Amino acid sequence: MIDISKLTAQKAHMIDREIEKVFPKNGLKNLDDAVWYHLGTGGKRLRPILSIVTYEALGGKDQKILPFAASCEILHNWLLIHDDIEDGDEVRRDKPAVWKKYGLAHGINVGDYMAQKVFELILSSDVDNEKKFHLIDSMVKTSIRTAEGQTMDINLRENNSPEEKDYLDMVTDKTAHYLTVCMVGAAVVAEREEIIPKLIKFGSEIGPAFQIADDILDLTVGKGRKEIGRDVKEGKRSILAIHCLGKCSDGEAEKLLKILNKLPEDTTDEEVSEVKRLFEKHGSIDYAREKAEKMKQEALETVKTLPEELHEILEFFADYLISRKR
Ligand code: IPE
Ligand code: IPE
Ligand code: MG
Repeated sequence: MIDISKLTAQKAHMIDREIEKVFPKNGLKNLDDAVWYHLGTGGKRLRPILSIVTYEALGGKDQKILPFAASCEILHNWLLIHDDIEDGDEVRRDKPAVWKKYGLAHGINVGDYMAQKVFELILSSDVDNEKKFHLIDSMVKTSIRTAEGQTMDINLRENNSPEEKDYLDMVTDKTAHYLTVCMVGAAVVAEREEIIPKLIKFGSEIGPAFQIADDILDLTVGKGRKEIGRDVKEGKRSILAIHCLGKCSDGEAEKLLKILNKLPEDTTDEEVSEVKRLFEKHGSIDYAREKAEKMKQEALETVKTLPEELHEILEFFADYLISRKR
């Protein structure tokens, strides 16, 4: 049985050493220190680990994957820094969000800086130019799709009759692509491009399931924000909200939309509890769990056709991504 905390302990050190090459520990005030502050708040490093283990399962035995793997973590973290600004979240991983600690102007700038470092890292890879081109091309396309997904997320909050398809399109773009690219880059560096279409299929199945699990965590245990239901306060059209709107009475729908459409600072904890009760009454949390499980089963079917060693590790990841507790 693969142990994720063991994997993290083994790999986190080399990922951070790679990251140190492009972010000086004693660099510019309000820039490199902000990057290290954010990286030190305790992210799980899932994406670079996924990249490294995919590479190793494909026979990679050297360190050539490290710059790309590190670039996946930097991409994720700059997206989170800007995401907290976009969502108005003041807390991330139980600590003040970067924009809250360093101010909005620095928060935006730190994210912009890290976005370019993604490409600096890839350019530093010890691979030939053709592979470098492929890695950069994949990362550019991923970044564009993620920005589109974030737009869909923001736009959807204005929609009072959202459908499940809107949600799935949005989370595929904002979450799944940048999980998938970690595996795609590993296949490029390992010279196993022929399996990329299957990795993309796997990512498009498990990525949305990962985000559904995230939505459930937000409402049930909270997500490093010292409170539950930030998504409700932010008016997010989560799969829970969409399912509930499709099941509840007109009166309940009116009440739910009224709460979702309030400003986050005007939404009380009691209103969050009221929404949670509505979700429970209409089976929306169970529905979301079942949906994530169904997508995971599809993803497991997809990995069956991948080489044995890779199959095993991706099966483990698929399980972990939807059953994680944080
Ligand atoms: C959280 O991702 C944001 C989503 C895309 C759902 P993670 O759960 O991987 O975040 P950290 O890096 O471990 O905090
Ligand atoms: C995370 O999305 C950011 C990206 C996927 C780019 P969310 O807004 O849904 O997740 P949290 O709750 O802030 O981590
Ligand atoms: Mg957010």
